[in-house]
Amino acid sequence: MVDDTPRKAAVIVNGFDPDSESFKPRRHEVDATGFTTVLDALINIKETMDNALSVRYSCRMGICGSCAMVINGKPMLACETKVLDELGKKGEVAVEPMRGHPILRGLVTDFDDFFAKHRSLEPWLIRSDMDEKFSTDNAFALTDAERDAFIPFAECIKCGLCVDACPVANTNKKFKGPQALAQAYRYFADARDQGGAHRLEIADTLEGAWGCEFAGACSKVCPKGVDPAFAIQLLKSSIAMHGMGLDRKKKPTAER
Ligand code: FES
Repeated sequence: MVDDTPRKAAVIVNGFDPDSESFKPRRHEVDATGFTTVLDALINIKETMDNALSVRYSCRMGICGSCAMVINGKPMLACETKVLDELGKKGEVAVEPMRGHPILRGLVTDFDDFFAKHRSLEPWLIRSDMDEKFSTDNAFALTDAERDAFIPFAECIKCGLCVDACPVANTNKKFKGPQALAQAYRYFADARDQGGAHRLEIADTLEGAWGCEFAGACSKVCPKGVDPAFAIQLLKSSIAMHGMGLDRKKKPTAER
């Protein structure tokens, strides 16, 4: 049972100050029960102690991905992390912005590059018949097996935690990153999609699928259990099985 007795807790907010281009740690005391999330504490701090604190959030229930940050050194969603679960021996929890994305202010990071990489791998269903899009007759029914092929990778909420954790993304800014590549496989594996070999070709680069060194950190931090590392290995093997793999003299052998 969750303990609803309030306890004192300290939240150390190591926010970024763009004016001085430095981090300005601030310590705030809050009352926390077993229900209080780190995001609840940050909203309380903003409303009652430091209205200059910059923090991004929306759904407050682990769906929108907006509140991703680093909590006690681990990339996590603030709305799904309980303050009391993270208190160290000193009764403190430390929060800071993700360092794997450009930092704008406070705890807020810039996702322009993240979404540009996502878009570059065409994360939508590609269909050849434009008319069918406007027809209400097409149900696109899937078998259980067809659904199971992509659903495990379709839970991505685009929080960016996987990119923050990835050692390759943090050292090679051209790398497409685990989120975009996992979604490339998600659409390739979807029986309704007709992108086929084209999808594999755009992922078949050193900055794409072959940039992944299979560290697996992305899968450890994903709050939705998407397992991007596994998706990227499936993407690599799909590329190889279709006669590609950075050898452009070979032609793709099949559409899927
Ligand atoms: Fe939406 Fe946390 S506020 S995931």
